[in-house]
Amino acid sequence: MPKLIAANWKMYKTLAEAETTARELAATLASRIPAGREVLVCPVFVHLPALARTLQGADIRLGAQDLYPAKEGAFTGEVAPRQLLDVGCTYALVGHSERRHVLGESDAFVAQKTAFGLGEGLQIILCIGETLDERRAGQLETVLARQITSAVARIPQDGAARLTIAYEPVWAIGTGEVATLEDIHAAHAVVRRLLAESLGEAGRSVRILYGGSVKPDNAGAILGLDNVDGVLVGGASLEASSFSKIVLA
Ligand code: 13P
Repeated sequence: MPKLIAANWKMYKTLAEAETTARELAATLASRIPAGREVLVCPVFVHLPALARTLQGADIRLGAQDLYPAKEGAFTGEVAPRQLLDVGCTYALVGHSERRHVLGESDAFVAQKTAFGLGEGLQIILCIGETLDERRAGQLETVLARQITSAVARIPQDGAARLTIAYEPVWAIGTGEVATLEDIHAAHAVVRRLLAESLGEAGRSVRILYGGSVKPDNAGAILGLDNVDGVLVGGASLEASSFSKIVLA
């Protein structure tokens, strides 16, 4: 599996700014994406169709930042996986810490989104991670186990092949505070073990991304760790110049 270098643009950029960054990214990375690397950009929903056109012909995938777990229906304000696939999305994030902690999404709802999105044919990036209080209380493993087992228990049989986990310690997101290489190494080993326990052999090939203050100057070391199969980048993905350095790190 190629390492996945993913940009989460969160709720940033006007449409013109998003198109400019996407164009710059496509130009900077044209014919330069290393073998064994896959690049993904996740803008806000309303920019997806335009960015699908901007990125046409570039070897850069498009993803959404969320989805609603239903085919269609009376769910005002929500977007279904089928609608995402229809505008050129192949990936979607679910359970990002900002959705869990700012918008109050539960493990059960995140599990529903994971299973439904996989069933509809999307590649799902399931985000997990502990808060600082949970880490200090020695609950890292308990939290990761709860977040992983609740979500993977319900995935369709062929779903593991389209599943990616993003381990993002909440205290390292947008804070400039990076987990140490030892912290990342240890947490990813726990995630790998939990995946193997819940999914058996299929759990060995699920990619595990690290996210939380990834920058051009730390990306190379993080990507070199065992069980780190990519990175999910917020702040440093907003400029094409810094995100492309991470892709090439
Ligand atoms: P930062 O890279 O800004 O810390 O954000 C990480 C993140 O939340 C990516 O999903």
